[in-house]
Amino acid sequence: MSTDAIVLLKQDHKEIRRLFREFQQAGEDATARKAKLVDDIIEILTVHTYIENEVMYPRVRELLPDLEDDVLESYEEHHVADLLVVELAGMNPSAERFDAKTTVLIESVTHHIEEEEQDWFPKVRDGLGRKVLQQIGAEMQEARKKAPRRPSQPSALKKTVDAVLS
Ligand SMILES: [Fe+2]
Ligand SMILES: [Fe+2]
Repeated sequence: MSTDAIVLLKQDHKEIRRLFREFQQAGEDATARKAKLVDDIIEILTVHTYIENEVMYPRVRELLPDLEDDVLESYEEHHVADLLVVELAGMNPSAERFDAKTTVLIESVTHHIEEEEQDWFPKVRDGLGRKVLQQIGAEMQEARKKAPRRPSQPSALKKTVDAVLS
């Protein structure tokens, strides 16, 4: 199985988009189903954000300094999503603002994923080449094993706190 970092991240993106679509198609009254979907969305975003923040972004920043501004923008976009995720994780699914907040999360993350796939990944692939991307991917698979799955776990929360305070 390929450990190409971009291939792995795109697989995550595909699953994230699938969950987004299911939420959007779930219908007005499907509260329990939407609660479960949001739970799954929170988990996959928490893991995905962790492996990008901890491995992909720092490696690219170090190896391709020209892409530093893109990386910094990505950290900020992750941070906006983190805040929404933390709020959603603590929210009752029948609350008036639950669907609206999820919709804003979906819009924001979809925009970010599109930027990564259409603009950023091609630049990273050109700059790093296949061998380095395989190494970074292998490192991400290792990080995935110890990644937080809930935003309340200290390793997930730390990122949000760092972003607010630093
Ligand atoms: Fe990202
Ligand atoms: Fe991503």
